[in-house]
Amino acid sequence: MGITFDNMSPTIFAVGAVILYLLFRFLNLASYTASPLLFFKGSQIVQGIIKACPLLTEPYIPPLLWGKSGHIQTVIYAKLGRIKSPFPSGQRLSSVMPDGATMTFDVFEPLAEHSSGGDYTMCVCPGIANSSESVYIRTFVDHAQRNGYRVAVLNHLGALKNIKLTAPRIFSYGETDEYARMIEEIERVFPNSKLLSIGFSMGGNLICKYLGDSIEHQRKFICAMSICQGYDAMAAMPHFTGWDLLLRFYNWAMTQNLKKLLNAHRDVLFGAHAKSLYPTACDTEKIFWATALSEIDEVYTRRRAGFSSLEEFYTKSSCRYVLNNIDMPIFFLNAEDDPLIHKDLWHYAKEYVMTHEKAVLAVTKHGGHLGFFECEPSHPYAMHPLTWLDKVIVQYGDAVINSSKGE
Ligand SMILES: *[C@@H]1O[C@H](CO)[C@@H](O)[C@H](O)[C@H]1NC(C)=O
Ligand SMILES: *[C@@H]1O[C@H](CO)[C@@H](O)[C@H](O)[C@H]1NC(C)=O
Repeated sequence: MGITFDNMSPTIFAVGAVILYLLFRFLNLASYTASPLLFFKGSQIVQGIIKACPLLTEPYIPPLLWGKSGHIQTVIYAKLGRIKSPFPSGQRLSSVMPDGATMTFDVFEPLAEHSSGGDYTMCVCPGIANSSESVYIRTFVDHAQRNGYRVAVLNHLGALKNIKLTAPRIFSYGETDEYARMIEEIERVFPNSKLLSIGFSMGGNLICKYLGDSIEHQRKFICAMSICQGYDAMAAMPHFTGWDLLLRFYNWAMTQNLKKLLNAHRDVLFGAHAKSLYPTACDTEKIFWATALSEIDEVYTRRRAGFSSLEEFYTKSSCRYVLNNIDMPIFFLNAEDDPLIHKDLWHYAKEYVMTHEKAVLAVTKHGGHLGFFECEPSHPYAMHPLTWLDKVIVQYGDAVINSSKGE
């Protein structure tokens, strides 16, 4: 994936999009656009919130030609924002964990007053191996700042290659300690701010696990948003290792990414100290030969995290089993054409919202995995950095805030 799209004009991009269209003929040009499917039990609070979020009741219209392809939306989301995506400047804070690991997070102050006049902080947990420097996070932060939110973003351990690890471990799917620490720090530094919890992809699993683990955690937030997550790693695995070649490709690409990260911190992760702490998790030959996430999880991640089998590791890391404990306003978003998250997976969120009256699940027809690029009438083929996803998160947050003021 050595393509870079830097300095590329929307016109050139349109030409590229045509080529991609030819490559991906099977990608849905005939499919119609539609409003998201909404699942909820129907309390008045949720109805009011939905009413205040027109993005949820109007069609989400992806860019012409390429936008209805969940694959294209997914593959380019990380790279393409580079054209002119914003670079918000924040302050990096850090805190040392009990095992000596140094967690870091970035705080971005609001650029305007919030429409309600209040002080609100969005506490963001990014996707696998991502950080505040990831393009989709930067675009989102900028949009939220302009709408009056402070944004705190957890940098997953190891995701910033230039920040040296101070203990031999990186993030894992279900370890919520760093997110918990970020929240404690935010509460300490901004005691008067009201908090919103937001997780993207693997980060969505993490925040739901964190919230489901304890009522105390839930009380810290006015609402939560879980974006494009898979809910159950064990149930997700067969889809990743099946015969779908594209899925295998995504899996391979994510594995390469993870290996790059492990390699960047090789000295700390597999040095003498690491070997004494995690003797079974240092077989670098096997680790760097892996071509699938489950292989790395088997030879590295689950051993380092102290689980005796992959199954136990995936089960204990998944939010699915604690989802039912969550009782607070929560918004789940998945896309039908998300190539990484099979329908069977968001079924767990559907079951949850049917029994919990403060929750809503929206499933869009298009958008891919964290894509959600939008069709702008003036440049219907172009890719604009600000996405439907960024807007819907802010709108849902505003709606919850407005509804609580009316009480
Ligand atoms: C986020 O992580 C994914 C998966 O590891 C990777 O493909 C992507 O490049 C990262 N995104 C950014 C913007 O860093
Ligand atoms: C919330 O209220 C503010 C004014 O108090 C209004 O400008 C905004 O549109 C409302 N937003 C939502 C999503 O309800």
